[in-house]
Amino acid sequence: MAILVTGGAGYIGSHTIIELQKAGMEVVVVDNLSNSSRESLNRVEKITGKPVKFYKVDIKDAAGLSEVFEKEEIDSCIHFAGLKAVGESVEKPLEYYTNNISGSLVLFDVMRKHNVKNIVFSSSATVYGTPAFVPITEECPKGEITNPYGQTKGMLEQILIDIQKADPEWNVIVLRYFNPIGAHKSGTIGENPNGIPNNLMPYITQVAVGKLQSLGIFGNDYDTPDGTGVRDYIHVVDLAIGHVNAINKINEKPGLKIYNLGTGKGYSVLDIVKSFEEASGVKIPYVIKPRRAGDIATCYSDATRAKEELGWVATRDLHEMCEDSWRWQKSNPQGY
Ligand code: NAD
Ligand code: UFG
Repeated sequence: MAILVTGGAGYIGSHTIIELQKAGMEVVVVDNLSNSSRESLNRVEKITGKPVKFYKVDIKDAAGLSEVFEKEEIDSCIHFAGLKAVGESVEKPLEYYTNNISGSLVLFDVMRKHNVKNIVFSSSATVYGTPAFVPITEECPKGEITNPYGQTKGMLEQILIDIQKADPEWNVIVLRYFNPIGAHKSGTIGENPNGIPNNLMPYITQVAVGKLQSLGIFGNDYDTPDGTGVRDYIHVVDLAIGHVNAINKINEKPGLKIYNLGTGKGYSVLDIVKSFEEASGVKIPYVIKPRRAGDIATCYSDATRAKEELGWVATRDLHEMCEDSWRWQKSNPQGY
C-alpha cells in the first residue's frame, strides 16, 4: 500500500518523501509543478536510491486524480499541495481560494469515492492569528486570520473536522507547522522560491550568495527582547520526520487529531542573522524597515502533544538549520 503525497515536488514534500522512503514506506506523488520542478524528485531518488512514482496532475482535476487512485494501491494521503505566498494571496484571493479550497474538495471527494479515508493535512501556525498566549498549545483558540492564504488553512481544517465528524471512518491528522527552514544535509534539495523571497531565511541566503543586496528587517519596535519579531524556526528534516510519525499514528485509526510541529523555542530576526553569519562565515548587511502588515510580535509553539502522542520532538538546532540552508543555497545559487 502507498501514501499519496500531493505537492510532493515542493519544499516540505520533497524532504518528507525522503523520510517516508527511509522508513520503508511506498509513496506516489501528484503535483502540477506550479511552484516546483521535477528535478527535486530526481534528486530525492539520488538521495534515497529508490524511484519516486510521479504523476503530473492538478488536484482540481478529478478525472486525473481518479486515474491515479485506480492505478495505484493508495491507503492514505499527505496533503501538501497548495499555493502558499501570503502577499500574493492578498492580491489574488480568487486564485488562492480556487486552488487551495476547490482543489482540496476535489481531492477529498476522490479519496472518499475510492474509500481512502486517512489524511494528514499541512496546516500552519497562522491559524492562531495573534495568539491568545505563548507558547501556543493546540488549545489556543484560532485567531483572526489576516490574509486569504491563512484563511484557506483555517477553512480546510474546519472542512476536514466536519468530514470526520459526519463519517468517523475518516482519520484526519492536522499538522500546524511553525516556521520551516533548513535543507537536506546533501545540499541537493531545498527551498526554491520564485522571484524575491517573502520569507526570512531564503531572503538571507540570497543576500549571502550575492543575489540580493541587503536584508530589510520589518520592524525593531516590537515588544520582544531585541524589538524584532520572534518565531519558532524548525528544521525541515525534523518537520518531515513528523509526517512519518503522523502516518504511523494514522494507522492506529485515531479519528481527529491536531498537532503543533515546532521546537518550542522562539528566536528573533536578529538572532537568525547572527546565527546565519556564524554558520556561514558571511556577513549579512541589513536595514531596519517599517513593520510588515499582518505580522505579529511573537509566535512559538508548545509541542508537548506531538511528543506525548506521536513520540516526536525536533532535534536539530538553529546552527544546523542555518548551516544546511546555506549549503543548499551556496551549491544551487539559481535553485533547481
Ligand atoms: P511548496 O510551494 O514548495 O510546495 C507545494 C507544492 O504544491 C508545489 O510543488 C506546487 O507545485 C504544488 N501545488 C500547488 N497547487 C497544486 C495543485 N492545484 N495541484 C497539484 N499540485 C499543486 O510549499 P511548501 O513550503 O513545501 O509547503 C507545503 C505545504 O505546507 C503547503 O500546503 C503550505 O501551505 C504548508 N505550509 C508551509 C509553510 C512554510 O513556511 N513553508 C508553513 C506552514 C504551512
Ligand atoms: N522578516 C524580515 N524580513 C524579511 C522577511 C521576514 O524581517 O525579508 C521577519 C518577519 O517580519 C517575521 C520573521 O522575519 O518577524 C519571519 O517572517 P517569515 O515571512 O519568514 O515567516 P512568517 O512567520 O511571517 O510566516 C511563515 C509563513 C506562513 C506560515 C507561518 C507559520 O510565511 O505561511 O510562517 O508560522 F503560516
